[in-house]
Amino acid sequence: MPPAVTVSWFAETKKRREKFAVLSLYESWSAKIAEAAGVRVLLVGDSLATSILGLETTLSVTIDDVLYHTRAVCRSARQSFVIADMPFLTHNVSETDAVKNAGRFLAAGASAVKVEGGAEIADIVAGMVRRGIPVLGHIGMTPQHFFRLGGYRVQGRGNRERKRLMADAKALEQAGAFGIVLELTAEESAEAVTKHVGIPTIGIGAGRRVDAQVLVFHDLVGLNREFSPKFLKRYARLGDEAVRAVRGFSTDVSTGKFPGKDNVFHDA
Ligand code: KIV
Repeated sequence: MPPAVTVSWFAETKKRREKFAVLSLYESWSAKIAEAAGVRVLLVGDSLATSILGLETTLSVTIDDVLYHTRAVCRSARQSFVIADMPFLTHNVSETDAVKNAGRFLAAGASAVKVEGGAEIADIVAGMVRRGIPVLGHIGMTPQHFFRLGGYRVQGRGNRERKRLMADAKALEQAGAFGIVLELTAEESAEAVTKHVGIPTIGIGAGRRVDAQVLVFHDLVGLNREFSPKFLKRYARLGDEAVRAVRGFSTDVSTGKFPGKDNVFHDA
C-alpha cells in the first residue's frame, strides 16, 4: 500500500521530482477503480456538469451537486486524498462564504477543496488556509470564467500572459495553496510556472513539463464518445464497448435468447 497522501506530501513529491496522476471522477465505481489502479489523489470536479449531467458549462453546478458526488466518492475511496471542487461563485464572493462553503465539503469527507482563480482570490485562499482548509488552486483556462475568456481557449500564450500566470501561481503559493491545476495552457508557460513555484502543478492540456497530470475518468476510459480534444489520450473505449453490450442485450431480448435457462428461477 503506498503511503497515505497528506497536504505535505504534495510539496515533498515535487522536491523528489516524482510525477503523479490525479483523476477527476464523481462516484463510487470509478473511485474504486482509481484506487485499484494505485491513483490516490482524486478530484470531484465540477466538470460533472458536462461529463455526467448533460450541461453545456460548469456554471450551473451547485454546492449540493458537488456535495452529493463528494460523499459518494469518499464512501468508496478510503485510501485517497479527495479534493472537492468549489462551484461558481461559492468561493470568491467573500472570505466568510468561502470558509463556510468549504467547511461543508470537509464535513462531507473531502480532504481539501479546489478553487478557480489567481492573484485576485489570494486573500480569500489565505483566509481559508488559516482556518485549516487545504486549498488547491486552478489557473490557466478556468471553465467557470467561460464567458469572460470567450470559451475554452488555450491560455498563457506569449510573454505577458506567461508573466501573469506566474504571478497568479506565486500569489496562490504564498496564500498557502498546496498545489495548482494548470488547465489548457501553452506548454512553455506551464513549464515557467512549474519552475517558479515550490508546490506541484497539475496539468490538464498544459503539456509535458508540469509536476502531475489530471484527466477526467470518463474521458480517459472513453465513455464519452463525443469528446476528443487534442490534450486527451484515451486509454480505453468503454463507450463503444457499452454500446455493443446494450445492443447485444436488446437483440437477445427481441430474439428470445435472453433470459436463458441459466438466468431463471424455478419452484424448487
Ligand atoms: O472539474 C474538473 O474536473 C477539473 C479538472 C479537469 C482539473 O477542474
